Amino acid sequence: MPGTASDRGPQPTLTGRHVRLRPWRPDDVDAVHAACQDPDIQRWTQVPVPYAREYAEGFVRVAAPDTWAAGGALFAVEPRDGGPLAGSIGLFPPRDGFAEAGYWTAPGSRGRGFTAEALRLLSRWAFDPCGLRRVELLVDPGNAGSRGVAERAGFRAEGTVRQRFLHRGRPSDVVLYALLATDPRPAP
Ligand SMILES: CC(C)(COP(=O)(O)OP(=O)(O)OC[C@H]1O[C@@H](n2cnc3c(N)ncnc32)[C@H](O)[C@@H]1OP(=O)(O)O)[C@@H](O)C(=O)NCCC(=O)NCCS
Repeated sequence: MPGTASDRGPQPTLTGRHVRLRPWRPDDVDAVHAACQDPDIQRWTQVPVPYAREYAEGFVRVAAPDTWAAGGALFAVEPRDGGPLAGSIGLFPPRDGFAEAGYWTAPGSRGRGFTAEALRLLSRWAFDPCGLRRVELLVDPGNAGSRGVAERAGFRAEGTVRQRFLHRGRPSDVVLYALLATDPRPAP
């Protein structure tokens, strides 16, 4: 099971066929700041709007190590064969054997299957070696891109949870997606 930073060791790098999930580095700040100017990231995620450089600094330098220390993990997603930062994916600190995942991908890196592969990698790692039994996603019903990622990664929609989010001050419904350790999964 995920535990405290002291007994988890360093955050690993997870390598797939096309993408690599690695710990955040201080030199990622500019790329995070640039990506988070994207209107879709601002529309569908909880990033602050407007997105100032200090938020990217806080994400990379504070939120990432704090999340690892709390039992979760935030990863930078990069193409395996090199290239600029593709996106962000993370697993929030688990409880009772399950955890919620979240992600965004920079506009220039979309449409290549990177996010679905990153989600498959993250989930496999969450199950083994981390020992979770369930990974969840909370997706706005209108977010076709994120629903596509969830389904491509083998997640199942379990229903609509009404007014589960307070999105920029407004209650909004979410579709609850989940993958169990025992579910069939597409090949990585
Ligand atoms: C949603 C998002 C992460 C998709 O990233 P991506 O790297 O383009 O996704 P992938 O290339 O891995 O696509 C996975 C699947 O989703 C589908 N998909 C991706 N974007 C889509 C869209 N806008 N509309 C419909 N389907 C879409 C793809 O066709 C693919 O399905 P397929 O393999 O059956 O063809 C990206 O658009 C994004 O960052 N959006 C803003 C932030 C966000 O919504 N985050 C999630 C919050 S819950």
